[in-house]
Amino acid sequence: MELAEAIKGRRSVRRFKTQPVSKETLEKILELAMWAPSGMNRQEWYFVVVQGEKKDELLRIFSSAFENIRPNLEKVFADKPKIVEGMKQFFQTYGGAPALILAYAGKSPSGQWDTHSTAAALQNLLLAVHSAGLGTVWTDGILGREAEINALLRIEGRKLVAVVPVGYPDEVPRVPPRREGRVQWVGF
Ligand SMILES: Cc1cc2nc3c(=O)[nH]c(=O)nc-3n(C[C@H](O)[C@H](O)[C@H](O)COP(=O)(O)O)c2cc1C
Repeated sequence: MELAEAIKGRRSVRRFKTQPVSKETLEKILELAMWAPSGMNRQEWYFVVVQGEKKDELLRIFSSAFENIRPNLEKVFADKPKIVEGMKQFFQTYGGAPALILAYAGKSPSGQWDTHSTAAALQNLLLAVHSAGLGTVWTDGILGREAEINALLRIEGRKLVAVVPVGYPDEVPRVPPRREGRVQWVGF
């Protein structure tokens, strides 16, 4: 797949087929994710790939996390209640995705969480998923439940950045338009 095609053709997928994704495919995707640039090349990212019973336990936490983000969603989508309802349903099952990847950041030498490097790896990951014919969506709506999530997965000393479900798409998402006026040209 050509790069521009991959970048523009990638969409947030929120409904998946039950068909599992092989561990080998997930390994290839994560390998590409980790070719991202990182601060001082420290590669302070960490991924937890979950399926099976632990995934079901995570989903129980995620579905209750929706109530934390509901007020913001209702503000942003005040005239689109269907989007809010759709989001609620999504958080209950994560679209039926067979696997979930949790992306964490470690700390930079200055003691700050290096979320930027993890974000770079995440974008690689989204593109790698898309080019493998799979679907995913970057989600952070569950971050308010980080403590519960980390306790379940026994993660300590890392910051949760996003959760991305991975599976074979069971929808063709609409293409959200891009906004104008986000570039300032200087000296041209
Ligand atoms: C930082 C970040 C957080 C996001 N959080 C969520 C989320 O919690 N739930 C969700 O359904 N989508 C989430 N998204 C996906 C965006 O809604 C999506 O990227 C945007 O609507 C543009 O659509 P596209 O990805 O198909 O181009 C998030 C994306 C980013 C980059």
